Amino acid sequence: MSLHSVLTTLLSLYLIHASIVELANSSMDPYKALNIILNPNGTLTRLNPIPQSPPSPDPTLPTPALSKDLTINQSKHTWARIYLPHNALHNSPNSKLPLIVFYHGGGFILYSAASTYFHDFCVSLANNTRSVVVSVEYRLAPEHRLPAAFEDSVEALHWIKTSNDPWLTRHVDYSRCYLMGESAGGNIAYNAGLRAAAEVHQIKPLQIRGLVLIQPFFGGTKRTPSELRLAEDKTLPLPITDLMWNLSLPVGVDRDYEYSNPTVKGGAKALDQIRLLGWRCAVFGVEGDPLVDRERELVKLLEHKSVHVVGQFYEGGRHGIFIGDPSMSQKVFDLVKSFH
Ligand SMILES: *[C@@H]1O[C@H](CO)[C@@H](O)[C@H](O)[C@H]1NC(C)=O
Ligand SMILES: *[C@@H]1O[C@H](CO)[C@@H](O)[C@H](O)[C@H]1NC(C)=O
Ligand SMILES: *[C@@H]1O[C@H](CO)[C@@H](O)[C@H](O)[C@H]1NC(C)=O
Ligand SMILES: *[C@@H]1O[C@H](CO)[C@@H](O)[C@H](O)[C@H]1NC(C)=O
Ligand SMILES: *[C@@H]1O[C@H](CO)[C@@H](O)[C@H](O)[C@H]1NC(C)=O
Repeated sequence: MSLHSVLTTLLSLYLIHASIVELANSSMDPYKALNIILNPNGTLTRLNPIPQSPPSPDPTLPTPALSKDLTINQSKHTWARIYLPHNALHNSPNSKLPLIVFYHGGGFILYSAASTYFHDFCVSLANNTRSVVVSVEYRLAPEHRLPAAFEDSVEALHWIKTSNDPWLTRHVDYSRCYLMGESAGGNIAYNAGLRAAAEVHQIKPLQIRGLVLIQPFFGGTKRTPSELRLAEDKTLPLPITDLMWNLSLPVGVDRDYEYSNPTVKGGAKALDQIRLLGWRCAVFGVEGDPLVDRERELVKLLEHKSVHVVGQFYEGGRHGIFIGDPSMSQKVFDLVKSFH
């Protein structure tokens, strides 16, 4: 989601832009701004219906990428929406496509793989990069706090390697897999990557080649200059990010926990493994996003660990712009094509 996306979608679709913008300051009530209620039993009531799109598996309909939903683990209600470029449907079994496993954003608490906002992005991603995309429906917080989303995301990798679905078995080159996520999904892609790097033999023949982190959502107790400069940002003000961490981190830890702050204790041990495996990483950010300094810190950490990483930073913008603005999405697609 990105928070930003949450807000922009709510804004544009429900015409409450003005009221949210007014709310977006350091004394705002983040529950009101997100239109959520924390119930006494610890669950969240999400009052804004976030627009959803059905999958589109019918090859007679004109869509640039076909899609369908498949169950991952029924007992956890996790599933995946798989995308296949329409014109790859009749590819010979010899021309396989790379695989992108995608994790949606939403501050760990909102949105779904079925959300129109991410569905449309995944359709473009599959078509423009000629990849099979698997968008993972992981469990949300606070009903399921971290690391539930990380566990579901790694479980999705095991599921992919064992699934007999023909869109996977017939069309995917399992040796060319990338993990990608936006906002909270970028954090999930990173943490799922750390976990997967520690069990590469168990996920074979799936072979991860890299991570594409789009405005990944990270935090820490000490405010960064960009968080202070953009504290009252209209898209992602600090009270909202603080609330998202409160609702998603394990109870009792602060934002300097490894799930939220990748730089603690000098960075995860698994980064050495990622370097040895030769994964290629990309981090996308914009100067108009309060999170940009943390994204730069992550690039620095990866460079320090001698992991192959490219930082792709742009002037202006806002949180969520790589999903919401097609010309910015194109920058992600171009990078992915250069990795392929
Ligand atoms: C901040 O938001 C609160 C709650 O909506 C509002 O009452 C207050 O006037 C706003 N303050 C500023 C400086 O905009
Ligand atoms: C928690 O409380 C909410 C609101 O009262 C209710 O709708 C929901 O069913 C409850 N969930 C559980 C698991 O008790
Ligand atoms: C599904 O999740 C449950 C609960 O975590 C777990 O016990 C089970 O092994 C999972 N099933 C599969 C097929 O992975
Ligand atoms: C699909 O991707 C191709 C490039 O592979 C691009 O030229 C075309 O405009 C895309 N179609 C849509 C609807 O995005
Ligand atoms: C987050 O939790 C801390 C510690 O419990 C609390 O002081 C703070 O007000 C909370 N912030 C939000 C936005 O919920």
